Amino acid sequence: MNNREVSALEHYELLIDEGNDPCRDPENLKKYMERWDGENFFRSLKLDSDKKVLEVGIGTGRVADKVLKKGIKEFVGIDISINTLKQARENLKDFTNVNLFCKDICEYTQKEYFDIAYSVLTFIHIEDKEKAIQNMIYSLKPEGILVLSISIDNENYIDYGSRIVKIYPTDMESYKIYLERNGCEIISELENYDNIIWENGEKSDSYGDKIATILVAKKIHN
Ligand SMILES: C[S@@+](CC[C@H](N)C(=O)[O-])C[C@H]1O[C@@H](n2cnc3c(N)ncnc32)[C@H](O)[C@@H]1O
Repeated sequence: MNNREVSALEHYELLIDEGNDPCRDPENLKKYMERWDGENFFRSLKLDSDKKVLEVGIGTGRVADKVLKKGIKEFVGIDISINTLKQARENLKDFTNVNLFCKDICEYTQKEYFDIAYSVLTFIHIEDKEKAIQNMIYSLKPEGILVLSISIDNENYIDYGSRIVKIYPTDMESYKIYLERNGCEIISELENYDNIIWENGEKSDSYGDKIATILVAKKIHN
């Protein structure tokens, strides 16, 4: 590996400088990204107009936009990247029930405020996963729902061409242990497979592969 290693923060700040915004991707790329959320994920959230919702690692608002369009009471998004949040603010400016904060989930403490807390494609960047999960659980009301979309990664780095970023893949059993010993019960574990067939009839490179696990848990005690 000859590419320069950068932190996740630097990588996401650079992506914005480079004009990358998944909210503005063409439809085929949007479909590609939905392999990490999709039907399994949205069904698990159980969104409705009474719900206060937290997203950890909101990015530029790709998932938030869909959550907000379903109609919820209040939305909070956190992210470590100021530039990314600036773009998210622009993308979500039509919603009046949105608050965005520059915060690392490992340092975020908001007691029993949310009905739903979720995260998509972000935990791969978090080394201290138990701390992050503890803080998400702490932020939930009793009976609140926590949904994690966890990408299937076996490498320790993601290669973005001109740079590499260290990631922290962890087995599913560890996620479940962190959730259970911090006050949650596991409700379901759903698998997202790549089923993309492009308009020209070609299948995507990873057609049939498992892309993500959607882990759904409920807070049962503090
Ligand atoms: C792959 S992007 C995912 C964005 C969005 N959830 C989506 O699926 O389109 C990961 C995001 O998580 C943010 N992030 C990484 N580590 C974080 C942490 N410890 N706390 C909060 N956000 C974090 C990054 O800045 C980045 O915007």
